Amino acid sequence: MGKKYYIETLGCAMNVRDSEHMIAELTQKEGYEAAESLEEADLILINTCSVREKPVHKLFSEIGQFTKRKKSGAKIGVCGCTASHLGEEILKKAPSVDFVLGARNVSKITEVIHRPKAVEVEIDYDESGYAFGEFRTSLYKAYINISIGCDKQCSFCIVPHTRGEEISIPANLIVQEARRAAQSGAKEIFLLGQNVNNYGRRFSGEHPKMSFTDLLRAVSEIEEVERIRFTSPHPLHMDDEFLDEFAKNPKICKSMHMPLQSGSSRILKSMKRGYTKEWFLQRAARLRETVPDVSISTDIIVGFPGESDEDFEDTMDVVEKVRFEQIFSFKYSPRPMTPAVDYEGQVPEEIGSARLARLQARHNEMLDEMKGERLGRVYDVYFEELRPGGRAAGRSDNNWLVQVEGSEELLGRTLPVKIVETSRLGNVGVVVA
Ligand code: SAH
Ligand code: F3S
Repeated sequence: MGKKYYIETLGCAMNVRDSEHMIAELTQKEGYEAAESLEEADLILINTCSVREKPVHKLFSEIGQFTKRKKSGAKIGVCGCTASHLGEEILKKAPSVDFVLGARNVSKITEVIHRPKAVEVEIDYDESGYAFGEFRTSLYKAYINISIGCDKQCSFCIVPHTRGEEISIPANLIVQEARRAAQSGAKEIFLLGQNVNNYGRRFSGEHPKMSFTDLLRAVSEIEEVERIRFTSPHPLHMDDEFLDEFAKNPKICKSMHMPLQSGSSRILKSMKRGYTKEWFLQRAARLRETVPDVSISTDIIVGFPGESDEDFEDTMDVVEKVRFEQIFSFKYSPRPMTPAVDYEGQVPEEIGSARLARLQARHNEMLDEMKGERLGRVYDVYFEELRPGGRAAGRSDNNWLVQVEGSEELLGRTLPVKIVETSRLGNVGVVVA
């Protein structure tokens, strides 16, 4: 009987890809197979997120649960950003954990499983040239890392302290990986990094300088690639050249993530975001003008230290003006190692909650208005998964989730679909070709 792994992945798309990398290494080098359940696993991995405090608290109760449920002799490994951030402390607080593997040390997975109580969390470890084995959760969509770490020092964010400084992965490796994925059926390529449009500033060896815009062009030249998505870009680096390529390259999906964080220029400065409210509005307006059908998503933090009612009104003003198709909104969570944790003017819990509720309620109203605009329209939908009740699901070019009646025969195909039913984020349609 082969050994079995069970993996739980929390947090962002980069963690999803890190989990795929670990699975590839374990299956190809150590002969592991996927377990059906936690109870039958020989190796349990928790790939953690530490961007906000809550999931970090939950981690320890979860380790407790897993320890009770696991079969005797099964190992537990804590991986990802919380592993980088807490390191050794995890072993002290949770003695049932067998090893701790940081977000920048993923390639050492096959080593740490054999070293009891191993802690590998160096944040200057360079994996940018490591050739991971192949494993993809989806046959139709391929996540590809284009950089590791993040060079921005947003004053609220722990990521630079868990994933280290930014290093770009050489373009030839990215293109090679994209080509291989597309040739094996993943016609949608999803490029990943903490700050993708800062690509190409630093490589670990000698490599010709290259911008993210150049990289997008190079990936789009691969014949089998039909669609390109990416996350996350930074509003500061949304120059005209980038926005123009986004607008005119037919393979680049017309959905853009523009993480606003705050609409107040004063707060943006204290967050060290490097742009102002006006710059953001002007970039968003240009995007809407050049790509009329674009969907814009964003991340917003409310209750950042020093945020006054007036600052929050600035955020609401940007929300009104840009009319985001999707908002991921969060109450500020103080994080260790970040400058903002020591800032004066920490906003009381109840004020933060009230602002968050108001923002979300207003956005829900806007989503209700938008859903009417989609009814009866035809979108090109790339089908990538099956849903219960005899349905297949996929996304329109501008990222709306669409379900139709159908099965396997639709997967991996892009078809025109007319929307017949809509809700805030989902849609039901019929194939019209
Ligand atoms: N570069 C990544 C950022 C990862 S963190 C990206 O742009 O996706 C993802 C989001 O979490 C951030 O955009 C921010 O909105 C939110 N976030 C980060 N730190 C936070 C904190 N301390 N409190 C609340 N939200 C935070
Ligand atoms: Fe965090 Fe800012 Fe980088 S949000 S991941 S420090 S761009």
